[in-house]
Amino acid sequence: MSNYWTDYWQQGHLTSFGEDLTRNYTGDVLSGWVQFFAQVKNESVNVVDIGTGNGALIDIAVNTADCKTPHFFGVDFAKLKISSELDADNITFCPQTSAEKLPFDDDSVHIVVSQFGIEYSDLSESVPEVARVLDEGGKIRWLMHARESSIVKPNSAIFDAIIAMQQDRGLLFVLRQLINALAKFGPQSAQAEQCRNELNGAIQQCVQHNAQGLHGTGFPAFLKAVMNPSVQFRDKKHMLKVFETEMKGQFERLRDLIDTSLSESELASLLELLSANGFENVSSSLFMQDTKSVGYLITGVKRGS
Ligand SMILES: C[S@@+](CC[C@H](N)C(=O)[O-])C[C@H]1O[C@@H](n2cnc3c(N)ncnc32)[C@H](O)[C@@H]1O
Repeated sequence: MSNYWTDYWQQGHLTSFGEDLTRNYTGDVLSGWVQFFAQVKNESVNVVDIGTGNGALIDIAVNTADCKTPHFFGVDFAKLKISSELDADNITFCPQTSAEKLPFDDDSVHIVVSQFGIEYSDLSESVPEVARVLDEGGKIRWLMHARESSIVKPNSAIFDAIIAMQQDRGLLFVLRQLINALAKFGPQSAQAEQCRNELNGAIQQCVQHNAQGLHGTGFPAFLKAVMNPSVQFRDKKHMLKVFETEMKGQFERLRDLIDTSLSESELASLLELLSANGFENVSSSLFMQDTKSVGYLITGVKRGS
């Protein structure tokens, strides 16, 4: 996995989805975690959050569920930028640490939580690692991406639109041609007119196939900005280059999101893996917020040997 998560967290975001990325989760996602953490708020337990990012779940536990005595460890592969509000004696962040190799002793952890984190790891390695560090009776609560969720599905449409745009003679190619023709032959030239027609045709095709996905790429807004007659040709070329670079980053992020999200059969395999690694009372359900599914909620308890 590339370091795009490091770039993402260095921007100071607290969450990985939602309208305001600087504010913590809300609604049923928030209340589900608050209820869960409230059960242990006065216990001296070790809680590990896998794929913690900038610590959204730990922030919920400490600042909303009022957990004072548990010790929280936030594990993440990326370099993090943690807010000073999470600078507390009972919070330890472990950046650049992978779920496949947890820095904890056997049987030393009581709870392992994760929200859209552990599925990014190799589950065949991270699930046994979680089982190793959890003590008898230790719990898991994981909210994981589901292939058909209201988060993954629209992003799949955006991903498909990016692929179409990047194709040979796709939107980006045709737009580059138009910008070159404008620079070389001028806006009134036959060459520019031909490119404009080709661009309009390509846009219509994309809209017919996948209007929502195209909108999600940000292309319509970009096109409006780059085609503004007051923008110099040299600047148009630069803007297109920047847009293409950003799109490549978005492509990688969405590819990983889709790859890591669980299909129904992958969910079944995960449940088997958990059982094979000593978990019991394992349950899985679609977690809903505002009548929309946001992912699979997995819970379970580590069996004694
Ligand atoms: C979608 S973000 C989730 C952030 C946070 N849990 C939240 O709910 O907002 C996924 C995180 O998983 C981390 N990650 C990816 N692969 C990992 C691995 N193998 N071990 C630990 N963390 C990993 C990424 O660096 C990223 O920060």
